[in-house]
Amino acid sequence: MHYDSQWLHEQSVITLERILPAILDLTQSDPDQALFLERLRNHFPVLFEYYLNLYGEHYDCHFHLEATVGSLAQAFLQRPSELRQLDRHRQQNEDWFQSQKMVGAVCYVDLYANDLAGIQQKIPYFNELGVTYLHLMPLFDAPELNSDGGYAVSSFRKVNPKLGDMNDLRVLTTQLREHGISLVLDFVFNHTADEHEWAKKALQGEKQYQSYYLMFDDRGKPDEYEPFLREIFPDQAPGSFTFRPEINKWVWTTFNTFQWDLNYSNPEVFRVMLEEMLYLANQGAEILRLDAVPFVWKQVGTTCENLPEAHWIIRAFNAFVQIACPALLFKSEAIVHPRDVRSYIDPSECQISYNPILMTHLWDALATRETFFMRHAMSRRFSMPENTAWINYVRSHDDIGWGFADEDASEVGINGFDHRRFLNSFYTGDFPTSFAKGHPFNYNPRTQDMRIVGTTASLAGLEQALATKDPLAVEMAVRRIVLIYSVVFSIGGIPLIYLGDELGTLNDYSYLDDSQKSPDSRWLHRPSFDQQQFQQRNLSTDATSAVFRRITHLISVRKAQPAFAGMSTEFFDLGNNHIFSYVRSGTITVLTNFSEFPQQIDSQLLPKFGSPDGKLFDLISQQHLMIGSTLEIPPLSVFWLS
Ligand code: GLC
Ligand code: GLC
Repeated sequence: MHYDSQWLHEQSVITLERILPAILDLTQSDPDQALFLERLRNHFPVLFEYYLNLYGEHYDCHFHLEATVGSLAQAFLQRPSELRQLDRHRQQNEDWFQSQKMVGAVCYVDLYANDLAGIQQKIPYFNELGVTYLHLMPLFDAPELNSDGGYAVSSFRKVNPKLGDMNDLRVLTTQLREHGISLVLDFVFNHTADEHEWAKKALQGEKQYQSYYLMFDDRGKPDEYEPFLREIFPDQAPGSFTFRPEINKWVWTTFNTFQWDLNYSNPEVFRVMLEEMLYLANQGAEILRLDAVPFVWKQVGTTCENLPEAHWIIRAFNAFVQIACPALLFKSEAIVHPRDVRSYIDPSECQISYNPILMTHLWDALATRETFFMRHAMSRRFSMPENTAWINYVRSHDDIGWGFADEDASEVGINGFDHRRFLNSFYTGDFPTSFAKGHPFNYNPRTQDMRIVGTTASLAGLEQALATKDPLAVEMAVRRIVLIYSVVFSIGGIPLIYLGDELGTLNDYSYLDDSQKSPDSRWLHRPSFDQQQFQQRNLSTDATSAVFRRITHLISVRKAQPAFAGMSTEFFDLGNNHIFSYVRSGTITVLTNFSEFPQQIDSQLLPKFGSPDGKLFDLISQQHLMIGSTLEIPPLSVFWLS
């Protein structure tokens, strides 16, 4: 519901005045009370607007809002002083995450280091790599057996006992911060595990908790919704509803049957989830990855993805955060149509976002050796609002879906449907001459859609090349890995490494022996930490150390160049479709060759930055390139020219 802005303004003033006495009372002995009140006054109008949009028609709207502001004040009271300091610091350095020194990494706690204490031991390595942002995959209490890699959360306030406890997490967070690393945690807010206390109470028939979820007495409603819904896991969890005989009800389960979607049309759910979120912020998480954002609001007759209310929920959450813990950033996980990916990015919504568009196009360019599609899509879709940033990555713990826009494709003469089939065939290794060793994920016979799994190295050809023992093929595979990472390290935004990729880690087929994991092929690219490979990173002359040396070199070059800060990235066409090129901050020219053959470019077409002697300096090789009328870029190589 939308309201008249004049009316909203008046109501927000009246409402705040009504709420204030209780808040004054609650916060009176807090040394930062004045600061809290100032922030509350500043952000209340925005918060009020979105809250009313969402719940204005609820008969108890104002009661719930007051309770929610009460929760906010409580969370502020519990905010530790060093985090309050961080809040102040970050507010004075709002662009901290735009620095060229930012480098992200992601891993599973158990697979990478056994437990939280193990992660602590890896801090020297994170520093060696230059990591400043560490995403630890969901580490909360979760069902003993299948928990979708932790994305079925049984309690947001309890660490999975196998990994440690909340105290360990707080200690780790502080240590990471002392070493210049910001902790990123998941806020899995679309659903809980069916073993969450709320779900258990709902299963015992408690109406209050049943209203936390989306439950139906018969197939009536589900049948109305279902025809419009995308099946996320058609293989392992077909449909979007699960019947629970204990209560004789159908429960909305977008993902797996044990992941119950929360009912955000209930303002109490908004409040309790806000409490969980602020709790995580108070443990020291500096960035929350908003898991599965597009799905949080449902409306019959729609796809139930990317609805306006989903945006209002995040914007309302964001306004609450600005009051209680403004150091916190939101990262959007919206793996949807490029237009919709973009729609979550705003300083007052999610300040940072995965960039699945670039990710998809990098793999497309490696397969086709052509860059015009990527250039077209990036020219159109890369730019973002000020004070926001992309998280650029080549792969995550999830599958790769070919999420380019069909309209972008058709503008450059590509049929999206056919091209997806080609890419699937290429990356599963079916396509003749393919270098890739990926596998299918959730083939949907109805739509003929499927996604791809595989580690970066295996998808880029290293697994196949090592099997053939052909040194040239190995070198080409290494170059492909380094090439796509070089884009991630040089294009505007925060680069994110899936830990293990920097060592050229191959697919791990052992998940097939684990009955919990075998139905979900994403485990193929979630290997355990490999001690031996790790130890060889600087020693040997094999592919592992080649990837490691080149990647760490790129990171250190990136970090030394302020031009790599921020988002400014201008794409340009050099008239050669194997070359992908852009200029950073108007000063560094990036040239990448996606072909296995050397490519010449007309140096007249290069942007001129006043180099009267006709020489350009490559920051990567630290050499002056003599350029006459043409410049040659070696196969699958990259120049960062200044
Ligand atoms: C996110 C996660 C994915 C998980 C899903 C459900 O998309 O990245 O791994 O399966 O949410 O939580
Ligand atoms: C879909 C969803 C995304 C999820 C993924 C899991 O792409 O949009 O949220 O992570 O499936 O495979």
